[in-house]
Amino acid sequence: MSQALFFQLQSLLIFSLMTFGIFQKHNRLRHVKIMSLAILWDIILILQIELSRSAILKASNAMENRLILNIHVAFALASVLGYALMIYTGRKILKQQRSFQPRHKILGRVTYTLRFLTLVTSFWAQSPQNQKLITTAIF
Ligand code: HEM
Repeated sequence: MSQALFFQLQSLLIFSLMTFGIFQKHNRLRHVKIMSLAILWDIILILQIELSRSAILKASNAMENRLILNIHVAFALASVLGYALMIYTGRKILKQQRSFQPRHKILGRVTYTLRFLTLVTSFWAQSPQNQKLITTAIF
């Protein structure tokens, strides 16, 4: 399995975990545990990608797909900002400050959408060669 594919597989698993965590929103303890794990794993994934930057540059069509690559990085950074706000508002709700609940809900939708767009654009930023590899691996 190529390194880029390994990263994308993790990205897909994190997104699935996050989706499952949202479905658990009425079970506070479970929701907090799942979301914390997803956020932590996502940060570890970003570190893994950063530490193998040269491999990623080789794998992605950085010159041809520069615009889509920049859009992808922007979505990824915005997701991390979203995580910080989710942790902040989530902790406030846990401290019985219920006024933070609507904010957590709206920010949750925004953060989840940003994370989805990060996943989608990661596929677009791939070189045609890797896109073929991924298509073969999936179907
Ligand atoms: C990307 C991360 C997260 C997303 C997308 C997310 C999303 C949500 C959503 C949609 C709800 C339901 C809101 C409502 O219907 O009023 C919710 C509830 C909640 N979340 Fe999160 N959340 C995330 C992370 C966290 C974190 C890190 C914490 C804790 C530190 C947390 C704590 C809570 C609490 C305490 C509730 C209220 C549950 C209840 O109704 O009893 N969330 N979250």
